[in-house]
Formats: sequence, structure tokens, C-alpha cells
Amino acid sequence: MSQDANIKAEKNKEPKKRPSKLSPSVHSGPNGDTVSVRPVRRGDLEAVIEIDNLVTGIEKVDYWKSLYRKYADAVATGQHFLVAVSGDEVVGFVIGEVRDWEFGSQPCGWVFAINVRPDARLAGTASALLKGICDGFRKAGVSKVRTMLACDNTLILSFFRSQGMMIGAFLPLEMDLGS
Ligand SMILES: CC(C)(COP(=O)(O)OP(=O)(O)OC[C@H]1O[C@@H](n2cnc3c(N)ncnc32)[C@H](O)[C@@H]1OP(=O)(O)O)[C@@H](O)C(=O)NCCC(=O)NCCS
Repeated sequence: MSQDANIKAEKNKEPKKRPSKLSPSVHSGPNGDTVSVRPVRRGDLEAVIEIDNLVTGIEKVDYWKSLYRKYADAVATGQHFLVAVSGDEVVGFVIGEVRDWEFGSQPCGWVFAINVRPDARLAGTASALLKGICDGFRKAGVSKVRTMLACDNTLILSFFRSQGMMIGAFLPLEMDLGS
């Protein structure tokens, strides 16, 4: 084959998909403690609200209570709410669900929120949470996971990219509705 033909053949190849870096569900936290991932329980809610408050600066007690009612113990309906626990302490959480045929897409898993306490970060906790929710999505029969993030949130973008997520096939659009 000529060099030109070689270059063309190389260009026409499908881009290689990087293997996902999702890690196991039990790992060591920043202090060497064991961190495990499990479904949320009622008693975890206060810690979840506190972590969200630490990250967003807004305490949304009613919002989290209603999310808990909707998502906890609802894996059978495709909804998933998991926490990462170190000792007795909840150090992170992830929430998502399987949505069918939204935006004309095949059923797929959506991750709505993932947060880890600032003092528990960079120890693989969010990776374990994402792996946990993806395992749940797989069990629910879907083979793709999606998320949406603010364009200026480079931290969460770095995290999702590190897990193998890429720009998707859908584009968010919006407009002000006025009064
Ligand atoms: C993003 C976040 C969930 C990561 O949690 P974490 O437990 O520290 O993540 P992990 O330890 O599993 O990190 C996995 C990878 O993500 C990337 N990553 C994580 N933190 C990073 C940082 N500060 N800078 C660059 N890359 C980072 C790295 O590639 C890392 O792999 P490495 O440690 O081998 O380099 C956490 O920082 C967080 O809660 N941030 C706020 C999230 C937020 O804004 N939520 C609101 C929207 S839902």
C-alpha cells in the first residue's frame, strides 16, 4: 500500500474508545479508611444535605427530602441514589435514573448529581460512586450513560472525562421565557 493510502486508511479507522477507569466499590479514602458505596438510607439525608450545601452554598432541605422519597429504594423503577460511606460518615453521593425514549434517544442512564465532601476528594470516591450507579444502569438493561454539566465547571468536566465520558450526540438549547 502507498504511503497516501496508508494515511487514508488510518484516518478512516473508528477512533479508539478508551477503556473506562471505573474503580471497585470498596476503596481506601484519603486517610486510609475503607470507603464503600451503598444505596442511600433515611439517616443519610442530613449528611447529603450538608455535602450539597458545602458544594453549592444553598441548603435545600425540602428538595432533598422530596428527592429521597422519589429515588430511595426505587432501583426497580430505574431510579438510583447511592452514597459513599467512610466509617460512619457519608462522604459523597450520586443520583440518577434510567429514562426511556427522552429526546428521541434509546433508554439510557442519566447521572443528575455527584458530589464528594471537599476533605474526602482525590481518593477515588466519585469514581466508585459512578461505577456503582453504572452497575445499576447495566442491571436495568441500558448500555449508555449520559450527564449534563455547566460549561464553566471544569472540575466536574475533568472528573467525567477521566472516567471515559465524551461529548455526546445531543446539544442542550435554551431561551428566556420572559413574562
Ligand atoms: C468532581 C468530584 C465529584 C470528584 O470527586 P473525587 O472523589 O475527588 O474524584 P476521584 O478521586 O474519583 O477522581 C477521579 C478522577 O477525576 C479527576 N479529578 C478529580 N478531581 C480533580 C481535580 N481537582 N482536578 C483535576 N482532575 C480531577 C482526575 O482525573 C481523577 O483521577 P486521578 O486522581 O487518577 O487523577 C468532586 O471534586 C466534587 O464533588 N466536586 C464538586 C462537584 C460539583 O460541582 N457538583 C455539582 C454538579 S453535580
